[in-house]
Amino acid sequence: MPDPADWWRDAVVYQVYPRSFADSDGDGTGDLGGVVRRLPYLAELGVDALWLSPFYTSPLADGGYDVADYRDVDPRFGSLADFDALVAGAHERGLRVIVDLVPNHTSSEHPWFQEALQGRGKDRYIFRDEPNDWESIFGGPAWTQAPDGSYYLHLFAPEQPDLNWDHPEVRAEFRSILRFWLDRGVDGFRVDVAHGMVKAAGLPDVGPKEGRQAEMLGDEQVPYFDQDGVHEIYREWRPILDSYPGGRMAVAEAWVSSPARLARYVGPDELHQAFNFEFMMAGFDAKSFREVIDRSLAEAEIVGAPTTWVLSNHDKPRHVTRHGSLARARAATLLMLALPGSAYLYQGEELGLDEVLDLPDELREDPAFLRTGESRDGCRVPLPWSGTQAEGFGFGPAGSAAPWLPQPASWAALTAAAQEDDPGSTLTLYREALRLRKAHPALGLGSIEWVEAPEEVLVLRREPGFTLVTNTGETPVTLSALGLAGEVLLASGPMAGETVPPDTTVWLAR
Ligand code: NOJ
Repeated sequence: MPDPADWWRDAVVYQVYPRSFADSDGDGTGDLGGVVRRLPYLAELGVDALWLSPFYTSPLADGGYDVADYRDVDPRFGSLADFDALVAGAHERGLRVIVDLVPNHTSSEHPWFQEALQGRGKDRYIFRDEPNDWESIFGGPAWTQAPDGSYYLHLFAPEQPDLNWDHPEVRAEFRSILRFWLDRGVDGFRVDVAHGMVKAAGLPDVGPKEGRQAEMLGDEQVPYFDQDGVHEIYREWRPILDSYPGGRMAVAEAWVSSPARLARYVGPDELHQAFNFEFMMAGFDAKSFREVIDRSLAEAEIVGAPTTWVLSNHDKPRHVTRHGSLARARAATLLMLALPGSAYLYQGEELGLDEVLDLPDELREDPAFLRTGESRDGCRVPLPWSGTQAEGFGFGPAGSAAPWLPQPASWAALTAAAQEDDPGSTLTLYREALRLRKAHPALGLGSIEWVEAPEEVLVLRREPGFTLVTNTGETPVTLSALGLAGEVLLASGPMAGETVPPDTTVWLAR
């Protein structure tokens, strides 16, 4: 019997971006009450847990990743009472709740930063007389001048000053914030910028480089990311998580230069998991998928914790658009859900939503947009639940204000209500895949074995009795040509007899 405290090891976690999930009070902005109303939908979808992106008090300079009060709910998103109702309602339905923790930086509206601007407690942040050459991930210098003439560090927007993690008060505060939410019943944390809190001593320059520093991560380390000192923080946090019953976990959002570096965040004395973004970055071809899968599984073996799989989140273009079609997105999803480990889904991917590419510039809110021209707003458009575009596709109750970002007319066919009873819909595919993933003894944890196949085709076997075929090529393949037979459990697109068309994944019982 697996230990229930290990629930996260093969969990399917659904990411809720609260501002865009569902609106209960009709102001056009999603809220925690909206999540509560939609809990039956999430339970029926068959996920194991929700991860809530930040809902804390925030000026929303970066969609809530700029926290002004770590222990309260922003009035636009509801109240602590709504949060408690959400946790209770989720738990009643067997759903766990993970919250986002943003420890690298606060909002510039946080009382600590406001005090620092008055000259008190400046050492909780990183102030210097002169800036160094570090760049903000959102473009431009990572330093902004304060009214007293000194400069403060912000690896993200100027409204997100970086905390100084050498300060014991900062460390103590976050231990206390962890306890605050653990006491309220959360099952875990998603740690934002988990690789960023500790900076190299003396804040050395990065030095000359081509292109933006934000693009350097793949080949070399920068002095503000992935420093050894961050691991000390996780070793302080782990005993706190372990002191609560029921398996409280933490998953790192860490962008580091290799899976080997990522593996260092995970283990019995640090965090439970780290997002494996390599799968999300892989192209839609058998070779890239296979390489990434092999590398990820090998690393997971080393750390002794199963890997995570992700195809979409609130920071990257939705995978329908990234991979070029709904058919490919559905095929990639069935591949992901057949792999050992846990999978993170992003709200709306179960509806097959595409990236909204034509938002008017003046409505875009991503702080990166003004500085780099790149914007993440297109994956943050409020979800279409039912009805017509004029009604905001049921994002809020009848008569609500228009959703905070406009939804495209093409989503009329993609509302949850429109897909509900359609056996060919993406919603039905996700429900069916999640049901089978739970029911089939080969899925979830365990190992995989590749079977010889043509270059553009992936065939993987899991015991007992499960085979997957993904055709990433341009020519159809037949199961018999692959030496396979068996009942089709699920297919990501229509099959003609035993033929697996291009851009299709098939799950077989054999
Ligand atoms: C990563 C979050 O996912 C992203 O949305 C945010 O902008 C940055 N961290 C800064 O907090």
